[in-house]
Formats: sequence, C-alpha cells, structure tokens
Amino acid sequence: MKRVLVLYYSQSGDVRSALEALVAPMRAPDVEIRWQPVDTVPRYPFPWGAHEFFDCMPEAVGGHAPQLAPMELNPGERFDLVILGWQVWFLSPSLPIQAFFAAPQAQVLRGTRVISVTCCRQMWQRAHGTLRELVSRADGVLTDSIVLTHQGGSLAGYLTAPRLMITGRRDKLGLLPAGGVACGDIDALSRFGQRLRETKDRWSEPQPGPMISDLEPVEVNAAAVLAELAVIPPVVLLARLARLCGGPGNPARRPVLWLFVLMLVVFLPVLLPASAVLAPLVRRRLTRRLARGLPGVRDVT
Ligand SMILES: Cc1cc2nc3c(=O)[nH]c(=O)nc-3n(C[C@H](O)[C@H](O)[C@H](O)COP(=O)(O)O)c2cc1C
Repeated sequence: MKRVLVLYYSQSGDVRSALEALVAPMRAPDVEIRWQPVDTVPRYPFPWGAHEFFDCMPEAVGGHAPQLAPMELNPGERFDLVILGWQVWFLSPSLPIQAFFAAPQAQVLRGTRVISVTCCRQMWQRAHGTLRELVSRADGVLTDSIVLTHQGGSLAGYLTAPRLMITGRRDKLGLLPAGGVACGDIDALSRFGQRLRETKDRWSEPQPGPMISDLEPVEVNAAAVLAELAVIPPVVLLARLARLCGGPGNPARRPVLWLFVLMLVVFLPVLLPASAVLAPLVRRRLTRRLARGLPGVRDVT
C-alpha cells in the first residue's frame, strides 16, 4: 500500500480544485490518499475586508507565522509522497502554510518526497524560493513544483485578483476575463496525476529525483518575473517598517500600509508595461536562473 498525504490551504478554491484534478488519476486500490487541510487560529477571512487584506502583508513578507489550528496529524506518521498545495500571499507562501512549517506537524515531511502545487496571480518566484527553504528545513525533499497562474495575464490580473479577494466573485466582467486560475489549466493537471500513478514505485526511492519535469509544470512569464524583482526591495522595506510600528491590527502601522497601497496603485501600472518591454532582453537569463531551483521550467514569453 502506498500512502499519499495531500496537505493544503485554499480560500477561493483554486488550490483545492487544482489538487483534486491532480490527484484524481492517482486513485487506486493500493494507494491511500489522505487529505489534510491546514488552517490558523483565528482564521483569515474570505472574502477579505480591505484592511485585513493589507494588514497581513508585513507578517507574510517577514515570515512571522501565525498560530496553526489544531490538526489531526501525527508528526511521526510516514507517507511515501506529500503533495503540498499552497498559494502566494505578498510574494511569500501564504500565512497558513507558514504556520504549518512553524509547527511540530511539519516533521511529517522528514525524509519524504514533496511535490509543490502553487496557485497565484503572477508573482511567485520569491515565494517559491521561501517554500523551498521551508521544506528543506523540515528535512523534506522537494523534487517537483507545479505553478498555476491566474488567467488573462498580468494586467488583467491586476484588476481581477483584487476583485476576487474583496468580493469573492470570479465571473467575467465586461472586457475583463474571469478571475482566478482557468478551468482548462486545472483540468490539464491530470497529466501529472497520471505520471505519478505510473511512477508510484519511485515515490519513496532513496535519492528522489524529479518525476514530472518533462511535462512542463512551470511556465515562466519573464515580464512578471522582472516586475517582481523590481518590487521585492520596496515591499521588504515596507514590511519591516510596518512591523516596527506594531503587530497585526495595530493602528500605528496604518500609514505604512497606506504607503504600500500607494506603491501598488502608482508603481505597478508603470512597472508592468515597462517589464513587458524589457523582458525579451533578459528572458533567457531569467529562465536559466529560475531553472536552477525548479526542474521543468519553460519559457513562454
Ligand atoms: C493576501 C493575499 C495576497 C496575495 N499576494 C499575491 C502575490 O504576491 N502574488 C501573486 O501572484 N498572487 C497573490 N495573491 C493571489 C493568490 O495567490 C491567488 O488568488 C491564489 O489563486 C489563491 O488560491 P486559493 O483561492 O486556493 O487560496 C494573493 C492573495 C491574497 C489573498
């Protein structure tokens, strides 16, 4: 009997749907699949209020994990494969996922192959680097990563993602595409599940290597990577400044959070088109750089 642990957090359902599509072909009489949601105390709201949304930026960016909600997972239990479904919050793994890694339950990853499944708008590279570090600190072995981005590209996502977060609505609006990850991209994940089913004898091999990297699990949009590289320094600076003013909910940090919102409103609409223009010049270098930590990276720009 092979044992798979599907650990995840999901708000709008993008991550949960992605995992369902991935895992469906893996079902077999000799495969036990255990679903284990992760949550925090208190829970993060969905849909979000504007203040709560921006107020979690300093903790997400700075790696200040909240309290993990009790979960029925024995850290000493062993699995052949862990599939970790997570999302990006402010260029970082979401806070519930950070809470899991800060808790003793993360020991469940020790010595086990981990496959990461990420959903995000467009900016995931810093978060993926952080996740890789978190898995490695928990002595897990991250062999493969799948990254799914929202439909409609960077500029559309700049409008559809906040709408989804603050209203919970993902339907098409005028010229804007629907919000969140496209259904077609989610359905296409079954190719990874089929491969995993075919390779189940390799799941717990002693020196685990990539199993799905030839199936194009990550598409790199060089313009989005470039834009992200440009926003990382100011975001990290503002996160530190906000933490100096106080913890979550402290009104003293509101001016810094407003500065952050101002940066998004003023800086991003200029930065996104500028990155699109510059991307062709640095595309190859960026893709090579990302490929060092991510098997199966494919350049789509
Ligand atoms: C608080 C918050 C911050 C976010 N920050 C980012 C970000 O920095 N980069 C990005 O690409 N997406 C970001 N997103 C978008 C989510 O990663 C994306 O909507 C994902 O599909 C959510 O998956 P879920 O609905 O299953 O939780 C953010 C979402 C939230 C709620």
